[in-house]
Amino acid sequence: MAQKDVGNKIPIYKLKTTNEVMNYYDEWGLENKYDQDMAEWNYTGPKETVEVFKKYSKNKNAKIYDAGCGTGLVGVELKKFGYHYFDGADLSQKLLDLVPKNLYQNLSKIDLNKNININDNNYDAVMCVGTFTFGHVKPPALDEFIRITKNQGLICFTINEGIYEEYGFDKKIEELNKKKIWKMKEFFKSNYIASKDVNAWLGIAEVIK
Ligand SMILES: C[S@@+](CC[C@H](N)C(=O)[O-])C[C@H]1O[C@@H](n2cnc3c(N)ncnc32)[C@H](O)[C@@H]1O
Repeated sequence: MAQKDVGNKIPIYKLKTTNEVMNYYDEWGLENKYDQDMAEWNYTGPKETVEVFKKYSKNKNAKIYDAGCGTGLVGVELKKFGYHYFDGADLSQKLLDLVPKNLYQNLSKIDLNKNININDNNYDAVMCVGTFTFGHVKPPALDEFIRITKNQGLICFTINEGIYEEYGFDKKIEELNKKKIWKMKEFFKSNYIASKDVNAWLGIAEVIK
């Protein structure tokens, strides 16, 4: 099936290396431009993802890892529904500096394409929204998310439709399903940045250990 040409719709899609991505976001954060653009584009990723997450995570004390938290838009949504224990991690220190104070328990600068310096089975859930996209974080990160998540914990994520097959997310998900490393609860095409005609797969899976 022909892919939609999403490569030219949003500037970040042209970035290739991790350094390019980091520099781009560091600059995008200036004068709160990232949050302004997300509001203007009606970016619904955080809202849509947390809507799905709350259906499966009834425990408001769940310890959650927000992978690629950016300026904290997912944390804002989590807080609305009563979750209060979440940590955030991102590549861009400038975006981390914009996260509202006292929203996250801990914030850290990280490259999610490398091993995460967190013990096994540490979290009840991992949220990863907007971060599986062009030039950003690759499928092996899912193995790390599963490693740091407890048995029966949840991994909730979006994958930009434009890289789903190109970067091998389709195969990675099939493998995790087949090997029963997780059980997919929902997987569907979400609105995401519909105003730009950019959609994303939204998935939530329960980890089996
Ligand atoms: C589209 S933003 C999404 C941010 C936030 N989750 C949201 O929904 O607003 C993508 C985020 O991924 C981060 N990112 C990109 N590559 C990364 C990497 N290799 N490791 C960690 N974070 C990365 C960027 O810094 C940026 O904050």
